Amino acid sequence: MCGIIGITGCLDVPEAILEGLARLEYRGYDSAGVALQVEDGLWVSRAANGSKSLADLRRAVSGAPGSCRAGIGHTRWATHGKPSEVNAHPHQDCKGTLAVVHNGIIENHFEIAAKLSAAGHELVSSTDSEVLAHLVEEAIAEGASLVDAVRACMKKVRGSLAMVVVHASDPELMVAARRVSPLIVATADAAGLVASDVPALLGWATAMYALEDDEVAEVSPGGVLVSDASGARVEPARLEVDWDVGAAQKGGFDDFMLKEIHEQPDAVAGTLMGRLSPSGEVLLDEMRIDDDELREVEKVFIVACGSSYHAGLVAKYAMEHWARTAVEIDIASEFRYRDPILDSRTLVIGVSQSGETLDTLQAIRYARRWNAKVLVVSNVVDSSMAREADGVIYTRAGPEIGVAATKTFLAQLVALEVLSLYLAGLRGTLYPAEISGLLDSMRELPAKVAQALEGSKDIFDVAARFASAEEFFFIGRHVGYPVALEGALKLKEISYLHAEGYPAGELKHGPIALLEEGTVVVGIATRTRLWEKMMANVAEVRARGAMVVLVANDGDEETAALADATLWVPSTHPLFAPVLDVIPLQLFAYALARARGNDVDRPRNLAKTVTVE
Ligand code: M6R
Repeated sequence: MCGIIGITGCLDVPEAILEGLARLEYRGYDSAGVALQVEDGLWVSRAANGSKSLADLRRAVSGAPGSCRAGIGHTRWATHGKPSEVNAHPHQDCKGTLAVVHNGIIENHFEIAAKLSAAGHELVSSTDSEVLAHLVEEAIAEGASLVDAVRACMKKVRGSLAMVVVHASDPELMVAARRVSPLIVATADAAGLVASDVPALLGWATAMYALEDDEVAEVSPGGVLVSDASGARVEPARLEVDWDVGAAQKGGFDDFMLKEIHEQPDAVAGTLMGRLSPSGEVLLDEMRIDDDELREVEKVFIVACGSSYHAGLVAKYAMEHWARTAVEIDIASEFRYRDPILDSRTLVIGVSQSGETLDTLQAIRYARRWNAKVLVVSNVVDSSMAREADGVIYTRAGPEIGVAATKTFLAQLVALEVLSLYLAGLRGTLYPAEISGLLDSMRELPAKVAQALEGSKDIFDVAARFASAEEFFFIGRHVGYPVALEGALKLKEISYLHAEGYPAGELKHGPIALLEEGTVVVGIATRTRLWEKMMANVAEVRARGAMVVLVANDGDEETAALADATLWVPSTHPLFAPVLDVIPLQLFAYALARARGNDVDRPRNLAKTVTVE
């Protein structure tokens, strides 16, 4: 997501901040900015020129007035409000005396912004973050010190945040605070530092400390003082870091793909954040399509490519089951050439993490020409598709660098399931109590994703047993079928092994002829509706001499008894099962690819975003 750096007390603060931001560049960003404590107060500069923003910022900073004692910098990956200069951080209060950088999502920002505006504050951006600057301003106006004002602000906001605030009245002080989103404070020779992640601090910091939830740190050249939500002093936990910059950018993982797989609990939590109300309703703030228009929709088409198509397939099951709407799903590159029947009562949903895939973009353009309503599910705010659609649901997985989609896929699954329940609510096809119960199960997903990752720790040992196999079939039924397709795609993409995904019931209509001793069949055998039929299909493949790997629910020994190896995942509602079941398959593909010595982040012949037809 966004990157934060703050430095006070070193010789060349602006240069150090720019260097820190450059080290955070790998996270992906659409805009960037700095606030520097110069002689006349705060000097703020922001640039929103995509990946050229840092170069623009460097040019601007070279013209900053006078000497500088401290400063904060930020790279932004938009979640609320499109990438633009006014939405870039740092944000300021009404008088321009303080500046804030923020990482995370403020869930109750609409409510807070309304109160601030009513109290006379002038909010200029369309971000959730700007409210922080005005809340701190308000507390200072009531007599609080900067550190107490930040603490007071923390009490008013819900959601996730890592924030750093500087105020012109105390030019060497930075106040940092966090909840959920990580933030690290550090000391160096006569300097204080703060950053969203380790790479930005390497080489400078002599000691790093991770802030805990609701802790607030006062960072100055003399050191770091940390206090809790009540203001009581606490001893921060020291981080032992012996990484180089490259390893640190990958969070200590060997590659971005593995790091991103382990970021999946956050990707799911971020995508759900603010969308499941405590009273059991679904809230979709960027939907923009009228509820009445959605109620009148007679048919839904989902268009997507690759992994996004597989997420769409799961959505077809969920939407038809819960919202009782007919859903067709198309590979985007086929859609407009098959003459689909579309009109103003059709909803076309484009699913694309990048929002730039040309086939999907052309498919939604085609839909618009036929007057269909277009909704896009995208991980990139203000992507081409998001701009051209009538409504958007942003997945908030953060930038994905590995070519193989992992965390964005999980985020798409939950975004589409949230949408399915939203439609069910509008159309009255589920009772409010049913929706509320499903939302409760959904809230458990981030923790269960973490559990599934924990349960896959032995994946390298499991995969090693199949390292010499050349042929893989992935089979599943119902929502296990798209999971099988995704498992096969992951294996093909990064291990270059031949893998096919099939509906398990279809195998005997042809492909079973390919099975022989040594073929590996990976089955999605968690306890969903068709488990018994799935097990019959597993028996069929075993009888042909295939080696069987099964994804099963934790503790389900009955399923494991039919497998040569079992990949364990927690159980959940059957329609949420894909979110968990796919995780060991991502790791299985990863382990086999690494065993073959492949570069998993940049697999051969593949581009992260396909912008040609
Ligand atoms: O950016 P998009 O979601 O539109 O990309 C679609 C596909 O190109 C993408 O999912 C591709 O299949 C990935 N490499 C899958 O890992």
